[in-house]
Amino acid sequence: MSDLERFGVSMPADLLEQFDRAIEDAGYANRSEAMRDMARRYLIERQWELPAGEVIGTITLIYDHHVPGVGQALTEAQHDAEAAVICATHVHLDHHNCAEVIVVRGAGETIRRLADRMTSMRGVKHGELSCTAVQS
Ligand code: NI
Repeated sequence: MSDLERFGVSMPADLLEQFDRAIEDAGYANRSEAMRDMARRYLIERQWELPAGEVIGTITLIYDHHVPGVGQALTEAQHDAEAAVICATHVHLDHHNCAEVIVVRGAGETIRRLADRMTSMRGVKHGELSCTAVQS
């Protein structure tokens, strides 16, 4: 086993409460065990090969539109994208939360760059990318 390093994590209290309940249900001994597994799973998911050639992708986001600038930043990311944004659907979920589903077409790497840029923005609570090869 490699050397262990410690780091601090800040998160909203209600998110931590839900996380603690979920990892207890799943049988984790503590938060560190759960975080290690999550990190490994994330790395494996990132390694999955994107389909070669032209890809059609959907990016699904949930975000808090009260976080200053997040709506504009998401729009700018789509205007700047190397992949072609075909359409975007916005749903006002409740007082705080919006859902946005963006359909894009292009090379897998360009679609993933766009999805990463959006998902990592402050205010974006959840982001998911799904890609399928375009059959010729
Ligand atoms: Ni909205």
